Amino acid sequence: MRLGVGFVGSGFNARFHLQAFQGVRDADVLGVWSPNLKQAGEAATLARQLDVGLARPYRSITEMVEDPAIHALWICGVNQARVENVEEITQAIASGKGELKGIACEKPLARNVAEAKQVTALVRKAGLLHGYLENQVFAPPVSQGRDILWARGAALTGRPYLARAAEEHSGPHRPWFWQGRLQGGGVLNDMMCHSALVVQFLLTEPGALLSSVKPVRVTGHIASLKWTRPQYAARLKQRMGAEVDYSREPAEDFASITVEYATPDGGIAIGEATTSWSFVGAGLRLSAELLGPEYSMSWNSLDSSLKLFFSREVRGSAAEDLVEKQNAESGQMPVVAGEHAVYGYEAEDRHFVRAFLGLERPRLTFDDGTDVVRLLMAAYQSAEQGRTLEFPPAGIDAFVPKVAKGTWSPR
Ligand SMILES: NC(=O)c1ccc[n+]([C@@H]2O[C@H](COP(=O)([O-])OP(=O)(O)OC[C@H]3O[C@@H](n4cnc5c(N)ncnc54)[C@H](O)[C@@H]3O)[C@@H](O)[C@H]2O)c1
Repeated sequence: MRLGVGFVGSGFNARFHLQAFQGVRDADVLGVWSPNLKQAGEAATLARQLDVGLARPYRSITEMVEDPAIHALWICGVNQARVENVEEITQAIASGKGELKGIACEKPLARNVAEAKQVTALVRKAGLLHGYLENQVFAPPVSQGRDILWARGAALTGRPYLARAAEEHSGPHRPWFWQGRLQGGGVLNDMMCHSALVVQFLLTEPGALLSSVKPVRVTGHIASLKWTRPQYAARLKQRMGAEVDYSREPAEDFASITVEYATPDGGIAIGEATTSWSFVGAGLRLSAELLGPEYSMSWNSLDSSLKLFFSREVRGSAAEDLVEKQNAESGQMPVVAGEHAVYGYEAEDRHFVRAFLGLERPRLTFDDGTDVVRLLMAAYQSAEQGRTLEFPPAGIDAFVPKVAKGTWSPR
């Protein structure tokens, strides 16, 4: 059987998934819905051009559920619509309009723990398989590096004790990401979901559950390093519109966490992660490290083997053809060839297609997505209180960060 896939959302992230589906067997992308019908139509056209399926735009999510050719939905819409998207899907199923096998949902699963629990309860009640789309743990450098280090290093000399991860770029491409009250936070909510899971994944023995490495203490730090400086706040407002006013309602553009984990052998391990929208470099930089008693690994996505050089005579126009969130077009420029594969989208989509076809057990579910959200909320709470917290802190499932309420002040 082939899996018919529909997309909810047709923006930047959906386009990455469409590229990735070129490397996925046994699936056809057949539908795209987003409130912007023209953009949904363009994404459907792209799917056809890439030969990943005879996709067409649909007028609603319900219409995709009603179509018996569509068996699974990939939720790639804005964070603030997660609950309404999952409600519409599960209501269409509950009212007998159609059936699905599974739902895969982009990071972050939701904006806070209450919302994450709500979407998880809805998919469980509907009897659906569920997958949490966290591409970075499927990134070949991360997954292969971890497999080799554990098999050769940890097996002979002991478990790893320190993992580090970072995701850094110069800031998101759309206004809603910058608005804490819409998005759910700033860079911590947007990107720490990746890096926090990467460190836990690296510290977990391949084949064991992620929950075998348990967070026990969390320290979070957030700051506005760049975008509340008056000249940059003005520039941001000009680029993103009047509703993004960091002189009035900022969100953090830097976040760091330190997590202490209890390991199954009774020991501890440390995860350190940093995320930033104030990074200046060629473009998006992903990095990861894992260290144990006699071994280590390190990955930096901008250390790419392909580099291009443009002299000062070449005045290129701004684009993202070399690397995601590209910052410049001249000089010595790294190129990440096949970003959708390098960042893990291809292996991720292949896995979840196989999981929804019943060929593999989903490796990341909405429960894992909820655990990530709970850790992020604890990091916000720690940052607000300026101290390390035992995990999980009391009341975290009802916590909403100040940044998400529009009441955070960086100073
Ligand atoms: N895995 C990753 O590395 C990664 C990268 C980028 C974005 N994302 C996630 O993917 C999601 C989409 O991000 P993006 O970069 O494509 O943003 P985007 O702004 O480029 O696109 C957002 C899409 O959501 C649609 N949308 C608007 N209102 C909606 C609604 N009510 N219901 C459903 N969809 C709606 C828009 O029409 C658009 O197609 C976000 O949750 C983001 O966090 C993940």
